[in-house]
Amino acid sequence: MITDNGLRMPKLGLGTFRMKGEECRDAVLSALSIGYRHIDTAFMYGNEDAVGDAIAQTSVPRADFHLTTKVWWDQLSPDAMQASLDRSLTALKTDYLDLFLIHWPTPDIDLAASLGKLAQIKQAGLARHVGVCNFPLGLLRRAVEEVGAQIDVHQFEYHVLLDQSKLVKYCRSKGIAVTAYVPLAQGRLADHAVLGEIAAKHGATTAQVALKWLLDQDGVSAIPKASRVESQTSNFGALKLVLDDADRAAIAALPKDQRFVSPPFAPDWNA
Ligand SMILES: NC(=O)c1ccc[n+]([C@@H]2O[C@H](COP(=O)([O-])OP(=O)(O)OC[C@H]3O[C@@H](n4cnc5c(N)ncnc54)[C@H](OP(=O)(O)O)[C@@H]3O)[C@@H](O)[C@H]2O)c1
Repeated sequence: MITDNGLRMPKLGLGTFRMKGEECRDAVLSALSIGYRHIDTAFMYGNEDAVGDAIAQTSVPRADFHLTTKVWWDQLSPDAMQASLDRSLTALKTDYLDLFLIHWPTPDIDLAASLGKLAQIKQAGLARHVGVCNFPLGLLRRAVEEVGAQIDVHQFEYHVLLDQSKLVKYCRSKGIAVTAYVPLAQGRLADHAVLGEIAAKHGATTAQVALKWLLDQDGVSAIPKASRVESQTSNFGALKLVLDDADRAAIAALPKDQRFVSPPFAPDWNA
């Protein structure tokens, strides 16, 4: 559980990108029954209604799980953000979010207006916490140090193959919780030799090793997507894995220059 800024965000969540309809509803229901208490969606995923169906059907009380959604980058004027939030709440069949995030910055983002709107949404209780995704370090610094924005969580790509140490360090120095997306490098880690050796040593899987490396870090959560119950169960088991110093050293020594999410509208990652 991450508890910065009054958050109660479970470190391990379920990502839902690319799942829709019944597949998505069933995946969220099975995750909740396994014990996941953190669900990540976004307006852009086109699955908030399916996540909402699971929320309506589950026996897990709404207060017992953390729910994140996001506003897309073409909806960042204050009025558009409000309209997007209202649509999300309706689709999700809930009257509040635990976390509302700006999904991507734009080159011309009006930081004061968009981040001011997030603060208003939080003040109104429609989202208990607010934050951003995909802000490079320079932009995050401007948001925090020039605009004075309260950012509770920053969600960005982070896994064993990508160095994000500067961003993580800055977030932690400002009490910003981190959520690592694509923590399994979009499923590419299954045959990874070094992770495979560590996994074999512990009788674990490469996915569990990759997840636990993230979850062991202070203030870092991770949201692997898994549609299959077996994968959801296995990933949940990462919480029990105990990595040792040799494992961490081997993972630290991996080349960390592989970024898998960089669409045409992505910011300059070095800005
Ligand atoms: N804020 C942003 O801009 C942003 C961007 C990208 C993603 N995200 C969030 O991050 C979440 C995770 O990212 P992602 O879904 O792209 O990638 P990911 O979680 O790194 O990888 C998902 C892939 O790994 C497979 N997988 C999961 N558990 C496995 C296991 N135990 N063994 C073998 N394969 C396994 C899944 O297969 P199956 O589904 O077939 O089980 C799926 O193909 C997204 O769903 C979304 O919620 C946010």
